[in-house]
Amino acid sequence: MIEARGLSKRYGDLLAVDDVSFVVQEGEVVGFLGPNGAGKTTTMRMLTGYLPPSDGTAVIGDADIFEQPIAARRAVGYLPETPPLYPEMDVQGFLRFVARLHDVPRREIRDAVDRALERCGLADVRRRVIGALSKGYRQRVGVAQAIVHAPPVLVLDEPTVGLDPIQIREIRGLIAELAAPRDGEPAHTVVLSTHILPEVEAICQRVILINRGRKVVDRPLAELTADGARLEDVFARATARDADAEEAEA
Ligand SMILES: Nc1ncnc2c1ncn2[C@@H]1O[C@H](COP(=O)(O)OP(=O)(O)OP(=O)(O)O)[C@@H](O)[C@H]1O
Ligand SMILES: [Mg+2]
Repeated sequence: MIEARGLSKRYGDLLAVDDVSFVVQEGEVVGFLGPNGAGKTTTMRMLTGYLPPSDGTAVIGDADIFEQPIAARRAVGYLPETPPLYPEMDVQGFLRFVARLHDVPRREIRDAVDRALERCGLADVRRRVIGALSKGYRQRVGVAQAIVHAPPVLVLDEPTVGLDPIQIREIRGLIAELAAPRDGEPAHTVVLSTHILPEVEAICQRVILINRGRKVVDRPLAELTADGARLEDVFARATARDADAEEAEA
């Protein structure tokens, strides 16, 4: 459903993402982890076709981001680290605008916006100006703009960052709902980055961990935490092992 094939990104001398490959199957919810600066955002931007890779490619659905960029973009909803919200627009006006950007046919826009509002619990604030909403509600608008064109794949970059515990629980619940099939709509395939490990345990089936641009773990959560291992320790070990290896190489 979504595949990274040898994705690399070079910024000058820095290899921010180094030959990262993985496959996410339809309906899977994958937690994309790694320390600050590991390359999560860079990978997600390449996966969604917003940043050209230096090497490698990505496939969304059946569409390669280079060969069929429009189809690939249409198949993915992306919540960037800083959601692209226009504070002076009202919620439904903004979602209509995003739907048009994604080429949702004119006669389907109203239904598409209503569906996104409803799924994200925004129906009551649809006429409110985005800049006047609380952070939690603005984040819901961020999720709504990612789903308005009904993409089968969602890529969410730290969807709960900066939210209070109640809002975190609500956004997490929303993601879990989006990941579940509903009314004959297929489940969304979700890749989400986070630093909150309990979040991964609450909603993800699989963990992909990157460190210094390289993939170091790609396993089902159940396997990682078998024998009562804590995800925190898995994370610490995976990021330390790599640092040790680099020291040994130097
Ligand atoms: N436009 C850019 N120009 C130069 N270097 C960049 C650019 N964007 C990212 N980097 C560098 O690439 C590396 C990976 O950054 P990235 O934002 O992908 O990490 P991240 O895993 O998302 O980190 P965080 O957890 O802090 O969000 C970092 O060293 C960062 O400084
Ligand atoms: Mg990031």
